[in-house]
Amino acid sequence: MKALVLSGGTGSRLRPFSYSMPKQLIPIANKPVLERVLDNIRDLGVTEIGIIVGNHVEEIAEALGDGSRLGVEITYIPQESPKGLAQCVQLAQDFLGDDDFVMYLGDNMLPEGITEAAAEFHALRPAAQVLVAQVEDPRAFGVAEVDATGVVERLVEKPPVPRSNLALIGVYFFTPAIHEAVDSIVPSARGELEITDAIQWLVTNGSTVRAQEYRGYWKDTGRVEDVLECNQMLLDGIERRVDGEVDDQSVLIGAVVVEAGARITRSFVEGPVVIGAGTVLEDSHVGPHTSIGRDCVLSGTHLDYSIALDGATISAVRGLHGSLLGRSAAVTGIDLASRHHRLVVGDHTRVEVAA
Ligand code: G1P
Repeated sequence: MKALVLSGGTGSRLRPFSYSMPKQLIPIANKPVLERVLDNIRDLGVTEIGIIVGNHVEEIAEALGDGSRLGVEITYIPQESPKGLAQCVQLAQDFLGDDDFVMYLGDNMLPEGITEAAAEFHALRPAAQVLVAQVEDPRAFGVAEVDATGVVERLVEKPPVPRSNLALIGVYFFTPAIHEAVDSIVPSARGELEITDAIQWLVTNGSTVRAQEYRGYWKDTGRVEDVLECNQMLLDGIERRVDGEVDDQSVLIGAVVVEAGARITRSFVEGPVVIGAGTVLEDSHVGPHTSIGRDCVLSGTHLDYSIALDGATISAVRGLHGSLLGRSAAVTGIDLASRHHRLVVGDHTRVEVAA
């Protein structure tokens, strides 16, 4: 079995981050989503992984290399413009050959893994097996109608009036039967070759498609709110580990990870929190549910329920909450008496300030 990971796309809902970095590399609890995806695939014993990459190919290749650090073997497959998930399967046809494969959307987080789903696919080996989850509003997803035995009767991509509350989530298991299907469908109204339509083609042509309901935590990390919620969820599972320096005027409460080379001075850290190597905290209050990358500097700052990427600096800002700070971003507090704010803000950036 092989794996196909989709890591193209424009990431429009995560601007401005997605201008300079692919959304799949956004760190959750200081580890990129895409690396967590590869971990889940390797846990199946699958090591031959094709990754579909768009215009962020260099950044992804720099982060993952040939995969040997993660115990896998990566083949990069370029996609010039995103024309749908089924187009990704077409682009990967040479790589996939006649093997079964798991297709995994590179921005989807399933921290509990997919081994159970893979076991069911291997045991029953339908032409395709999708993972579904019950959602409140299925209109933003592919929607499956499934009989009592788990056989899919119908699939519709983003139906205005959904006939079930079972949304397709970002992991699919395929036999080579999918190749004829992706070559037989036509683009949808949004101009994309939909994988949902290709799977429906299998159903229409008499192949068995099964659905397994995924009961674990699942999140498509498409928006900042999702990234922060996912960060909270993963931080809730960490254990305390202090390898950096903490002075005797600082207090660490609960699950706090301080990487080697980080320095904490006169600060209060309320776990769960991770603090990356080389980061300095002075006179600050951090956490809970906060991830700080490498080589950041926080001084005189209160920060909780947030993520700061490598090299971010924050000084004299109290009350930062629900924030996502990009690499080497700088946030500086000013004296309230000055009665003004000064902002240098890039395209599609969101800023909230006290009125
Ligand atoms: C895609 C699929 C959709 C699926 C969703 C899961 O949607 O087309 O069927 O439910 O991923 O995240 P997209 O993210 O392209 O809108």
